[in-house]
Amino acid sequence: MLDSGKKFFRVTPQLMLAVGTAVIGSLQFGYNTGVINAPQNIIESFYNTTWISRFSEPISQSTLTALWSFSVAVFSVGGMFGSFSVGLFVNRFGRRNSMLMANVLAFLAAVFMGFSKLAASFEMLIIGRFIVGLYSGLSTGFVPMYVEEISPTSLRGALGTLHQLGVVIGILMAQIFGIESILGNASLWPLLMGFTLLPALLQCVLLPFCPESPRYLLINCNEESKACSVLMKLRGTDEVSEDIQEMREESQKMMREKKVTIPELFRSPIYRQPILVAIMLQLSQQLSGINAVFYYSTGIFERAGVSQPVYATIGAGLVNTAFTVVSLFVVEHVGRRPLHLIGLMGMAVSAVFLTVAMALLDQLRWMSYISIVAIFSFVAFFEIGPGPIPWFIVAELFSQGPRPAAIAVAGFCNWSANFIVGMSFQYVEQLLGPYVFIIFTVLLLGFFVFTYFKVPETKGRTFDEIAAGFRHSSGQGAEKYSAPEEFNTLKGDDPDL
Ligand code: GLC
Repeated sequence: MLDSGKKFFRVTPQLMLAVGTAVIGSLQFGYNTGVINAPQNIIESFYNTTWISRFSEPISQSTLTALWSFSVAVFSVGGMFGSFSVGLFVNRFGRRNSMLMANVLAFLAAVFMGFSKLAASFEMLIIGRFIVGLYSGLSTGFVPMYVEEISPTSLRGALGTLHQLGVVIGILMAQIFGIESILGNASLWPLLMGFTLLPALLQCVLLPFCPESPRYLLINCNEESKACSVLMKLRGTDEVSEDIQEMREESQKMMREKKVTIPELFRSPIYRQPILVAIMLQLSQQLSGINAVFYYSTGIFERAGVSQPVYATIGAGLVNTAFTVVSLFVVEHVGRRPLHLIGLMGMAVSAVFLTVAMALLDQLRWMSYISIVAIFSFVAFFEIGPGPIPWFIVAELFSQGPRPAAIAVAGFCNWSANFIVGMSFQYVEQLLGPYVFIIFTVLLLGFFVFTYFKVPETKGRTFDEIAAGFRHSSGQGAEKYSAPEEFNTLKGDDPDL
């Protein structure tokens, strides 16, 4: 049992099954984020051999850099399209069935990537990365939406963080499988890439046992009795009238509103503020530079003079996982805002240390250790706040009506920024050398300031209360939404605790 402060909620087996199954989608996203890191050299030499067999000459370094950067970043192009399409699925087919259907993409991607070597075609690998990106983009919308909608208010942050835990475990698995003696070698790398098939199978087997989101059943389909019985199973109690009542109210409000389209999110003064917050939080996550680490850390460690770069990469994956667990346990106590702020500032400081270490490497060899510590702490601070929070907070910032459109826009921004970092990092690094992380430091400080002034706390508030806060601040309600009250939670004095 978990004490919500107001009410006791059991984490029931049904709830865990539903969340656990959904986050297999997050695991796939993480796996495919991390999978191209360790075997970079091996797959590059496959590109080279293929090139030689076609053109009878080795590939030039610049073509190889371009082709590899594209193979890495095309995943996020798929993510951009996938995340933008979330709204097309969730209201038509429901949350659960949308997750089920998306697996077709995961199967297809596994086939393309797994057979690319056999077919001597790096194009197949690139197409497979694009398709699994589509799947991952959809997942980054479907999973947080489903998890937030089935969770009790007091556990939304903790369960929402499980999406990110799925991601980081996926990254770690990819890093471990990518060790040369496991699958990261010239003959087995196709299995490393095709592994995506197994989680897809598992999710397809388990999803039919998971319930549809009760909010979707009641608010979108008007099926109150079904919603009621799903809720009873999820909560492990017959006493669900309060939740049902809250959903009914939201449903009534929604009937009064028009259907919210993407342009409307920007036009309507009620949504302008939350959509800006949602977008900036997504940008803060990606432009923090985290994926420079998760796509390219093996190379970064190599240049920083680390003798076993692949193991240092796995170390980063372990730290990443450990700190996501920390965030999971503290997010409902400390709140979203303070954790995000601490995370951004910690990352900015770590990036400065990393820069100093890289710059002094030629004079002081032991700086390579400092660079490892700096990257580990960069990753640790990321997972305290900027990793998990942006993914689930968008679902919290919007009520049922605008939620799908908002998640699509936010996801699209996240993936676009992911693409920019993945595609340009190697080039900017060639240009700036050890000073490349300074760019991220400046961006991180900017996002810190934005978060401090603009991001509200959502912990312990119902979707409707959060939306009302924004309505007030946009002048559409009586009482002004005041920042100072939010700042109190930075110091941890939350009246709800
Ligand atoms: C977040 C980001 C993802 C990143 C991961 C690292 O989920 O969205 O791009 O790779 O965290 O843990």
